[in-house]
Amino acid sequence: MHSIVSLISGRGSNFEAIYKAAKAKSWDVRFTGLIANQPEAKGLEFAKSVGIPTAVIHHRSYSSREAFDGALMQQIDAFGADLVVLAGFMRILTPGFIQHYEGRMMNIHPSLLPRFPGLHTHERALEAGDRVHGATVHFVSAGVDEGPIICQSEVPVLPTDTPSELAARVLKTEHQIYPLAVEWFIQGRLQIAGNRVSVDPPELQYIPFP
Ligand code: GRF
Repeated sequence: MHSIVSLISGRGSNFEAIYKAAKAKSWDVRFTGLIANQPEAKGLEFAKSVGIPTAVIHHRSYSSREAFDGALMQQIDAFGADLVVLAGFMRILTPGFIQHYEGRMMNIHPSLLPRFPGLHTHERALEAGDRVHGATVHFVSAGVDEGPIICQSEVPVLPTDTPSELAARVLKTEHQIYPLAVEWFIQGRLQIAGNRVSVDPPELQYIPFP
């Protein structure tokens, strides 16, 4: 059975989508902990309501990134994780931390990577005049929003879109692709070769707009 620890900074809707998919499809998995770096992260409430152990590790209480990441690592490993799921976790991680969880830490990013790493992806997609936008689930490697891509989803950019309308459309697809990527992982179907991730047996790693 796989153990999942998730890291969040805010709302936690992606974590909730993964948890609900696990229940609905009876995945062979345990959610051993959820950690927030913001004491007021809304997602803590959901985790508590379903009996998942939670912890707050506030980055402001640490004098350096290394010290914060060290505390984070200790808590993740105390919960016990063979998969770390970053779900709206808004901190840049140190190389040592990333290396420790290499091949077993995933992130979701609200753009079609490698387009628009970093923040404000929806505003940037609109400013760039892109007609398609989307989301990416990837293994985490050194570099912000970099690492082997597990799957992506695409949404249209409508002529009247505001950043928040576009964000809402992308978020809907995030809630589809993140559970899918985690399910593949716990089924032992993901293989990483260099920067390429394949699913065995093969499946489309691209989810078109429904
Ligand atoms: C999502 O758009 C995710 O892609 C980004 O931050 C947002 C988190 O949303 N990294 P939530 O906390 O999962 O609701």
